[in-house]
Amino acid sequence: MIPYIFFAPIQGITNSEFINTYDTFFGEDIYKYFTPFMRMESYENKIRKKDLKNIHTININIKQKVIPQIVSNNYDDLVNFASQLSEEGFNEINLNLGCPFPMLVKRKLGGGLLGDLNLITALLDQFFSSSASTVDLSIKTRIGLESPDEIFKIIEIFNQFPLKYIIIHPRTVMQQYSEIPYKEIFYECIKISKIPLIYNGDILTKDDYDQIINSFSNNYERKIMIGRGILKNLFLPAIINENFRFTSGSEIALKIQNFLSELLEQYRQRLSGDKNIILKMLQYWEYFSVMFNNNSSKVYKTIKKSRNLNHYIENVNKIFKEYELKFLMI
Ligand SMILES: Cc1cc2nc3c(=O)[nH]c(=O)nc-3n(C[C@H](O)[C@H](O)[C@H](O)COP(=O)(O)O)c2cc1C
Repeated sequence: MIPYIFFAPIQGITNSEFINTYDTFFGEDIYKYFTPFMRMESYENKIRKKDLKNIHTININIKQKVIPQIVSNNYDDLVNFASQLSEEGFNEINLNLGCPFPMLVKRKLGGGLLGDLNLITALLDQFFSSSASTVDLSIKTRIGLESPDEIFKIIEIFNQFPLKYIIIHPRTVMQQYSEIPYKEIFYECIKISKIPLIYNGDILTKDDYDQIINSFSNNYERKIMIGRGILKNLFLPAIINENFRFTSGSEIALKIQNFLSELLEQYRQRLSGDKNIILKMLQYWEYFSVMFNNNSSKVYKTIKKSRNLNHYIENVNKIFKEYELKFLMI
């Protein structure tokens, strides 16, 4: 069975500029991309303008690989989101039931919704009885608000609806990103879920992937979602897919450099002012810097010191001259 790799949504990072660029260079190993969560404009029943702009700048040829995500606990929002995106040519949306940002959780949004199972049931019930349900709905969730065994009740609810699949990041909302994911709980979920499940969380190497896949039963479809692991090793999907064909370190470095130039170019078109563009690139370098052997903090600091875009480009070149890339084939 071939692996299907879903690129996880990461707010501020998996924007259209990134998805377009990543797909140009590494796209053959990605099955689907998810947008960071979007919201509806209050009182207007329309997707927020800046979120819609993000959708509109996705390259037309990869639109079918991109799944828009919403954060909401409101039936009208969900239905209007689905309808508007259907008009934009999308046939699937994803509902976020996992975001642990306290501001959202307090308002029963994202992971906060896991604290109100009646509200989840009502939301899904209304969605699937509406005309908007011609658009497929998938869910991305954590395993509970406070306790990992909450997921078993949550799965019982999901089982009542024709959801396309459920992506599970087996940590609780309260855990945020601490400790290791509860893989054994995910395994229990596979046994009781009537809906296909997709594992997500802390896959950084091919070994991590193999361990996870091998610990699940043979009929677990090889579908996984990865976020930070890909940002820390852009080749990870190719390595997992056994599709990594480079012969030399310089060839690898060149591909990363070309990718970085294109990402910069995409943001130059969207943002104005060197400072804003450098700040955006720095967000990426928090992850990309990990690709350099034991020098990630030096690499990050070098980028941070960039005074303007020319200086940024000089610094990137300097980094590739001075620091070696990690052995990425792990
Ligand atoms: C900075 C940051 C922003 C994120 N934004 C979103 C988001 O918008 N929607 C979502 O469903 N998950 C979001 N996530 C969670 C990731 O999609 C993913 O579930 C999590 O990082 C675990 O997977 P990983 O270990 O492969 O990165 C975010 C995670 C991080 C670190």
